[in-house]
Amino acid sequence: MSAVLKPNNQAERKAFYDKIDTRSLSPLWEVLHGIIIKEPKSPALPYLWSWAQVRPWILESAGLITAEEAERRVLVLENPGLRGKTRITNSLYAGLQLIMPGEVAPAHRHSQSALRFVVEGHGAYTAVDGERVFMEPGDFIITPSWTFHDHGNPGSEPVIWMDGLDVAIVELFDAQFLERSEVKSQQTSKTQGESLARFGNTMLPVNYKTSTHTSPLFWYPYNRSREALAAIAKSETPHASHGWKLQYVNPATGGFPMPTIATFLQLLPKGFRGRDYRSTDATSFCVVEGRGTFKCGGHEFKFAPNDIFVAPSWLHYQLHADEECVIFSFSDRPVQQALDLWREQETA
Ligand SMILES: [Fe+2]
Repeated sequence: MSAVLKPNNQAERKAFYDKIDTRSLSPLWEVLHGIIIKEPKSPALPYLWSWAQVRPWILESAGLITAEEAERRVLVLENPGLRGKTRITNSLYAGLQLIMPGEVAPAHRHSQSALRFVVEGHGAYTAVDGERVFMEPGDFIITPSWTFHDHGNPGSEPVIWMDGLDVAIVELFDAQFLERSEVKSQQTSKTQGESLARFGNTMLPVNYKTSTHTSPLFWYPYNRSREALAAIAKSETPHASHGWKLQYVNPATGGFPMPTIATFLQLLPKGFRGRDYRSTDATSFCVVEGRGTFKCGGHEFKFAPNDIFVAPSWLHYQLHADEECVIFSFSDRPVQQALDLWREQETA
C-alpha cells in the first residue's frame, strides 16, 4: 500500500510533531541533513593568543585571587567560535596557569587527564602520585586520570604553563569524578627523576606490565626532545608540511602518552614554507622558539615565542618560519584513531 500525501500538508506535519513531542519524540528527517554531513564543519575558529598581550593579564590575575582560593589560577584559552564552552577545540580544554612564589595549588584528583607544557619561569614543581618534578620551560608533563596532583612554587619568580585537558571528552561520556585530598601538598615518596630513570631511557623495568593506557613516564624534559630534533634535522630533509616532527610516546606501549591526547614537538628550519595540510584532529600549538606565520582558513597570524594558536578540524593550514622554530602541539588524535575516524590530507 503506498501512502497518498496531501499537498502542502505543513500544518498537518506540525500538528504531528507537536503531538509526538509530548512524549520526547522528534522527526529525524527535519534534522538529518544537519547531523550527517559531507565533511567536518567545526564551529571552532582559527585563532592566536599573543603572549605579549596575555602575559600581563595572567600576572594581573595574581592580584585578584590566590592559587589556593582559585584552586587553580587559570585563564582559559576559549576558542572564539565556542565562547562559554570552556574549550579551545570542540573536544579539548586549554588554559594558562600561574603559580606565584610561595603558593601551592592544593592536591586533588579527577577523571580528566591533563598535560602541562611549561611556558615561563623556573622553580615551581608539579607532584604526581608522590613524585615531585621541578618544571623547566618546554617540559611536557602528564597528570594521568585519577592521580593526585598538586603544584607549588618555592622559588622566587612567577611560573606559567599551558594546561590541556580532555574535559569535553569525559563530559561526553558523563564519566567525571573529582576528589580533593585531605592534605594540601602530597607527601613525596619518590625522588625527582625516578620515573624518567625507569621509563625514559628506551628501557623498561624487567617484567614490567602496564595496567593503564597512560604513560608511566610523566615528565618529558625539553632538553632531551630538543636535542633529538636537532640531531634528526642534521640527517634528513624536513617533511613538506611539518618540518621535523616527533610525537611523544608511551614507552610501555609505543602509543601516545595519554589515552585521549596526542602531543608533538616539531622543528621548522629558517625560511620554511610549509605545504598546505589538514586533518580531522583540531590541533593547538604552543610556540617555544622562533617567529613565523600561521595561515589557517583564510586567516593569517604572525607568531612569536609562547604564543598559542589553534587549527580547527579539517581547515587547511600552513606553517611558515622566519627563523628556526620549535613548536609543541596537542590534539585528540588517539581518540579519533581508536574510533577509526582520523583522516589527514596534504595538498601539493
Ligand atoms: Fe587538576
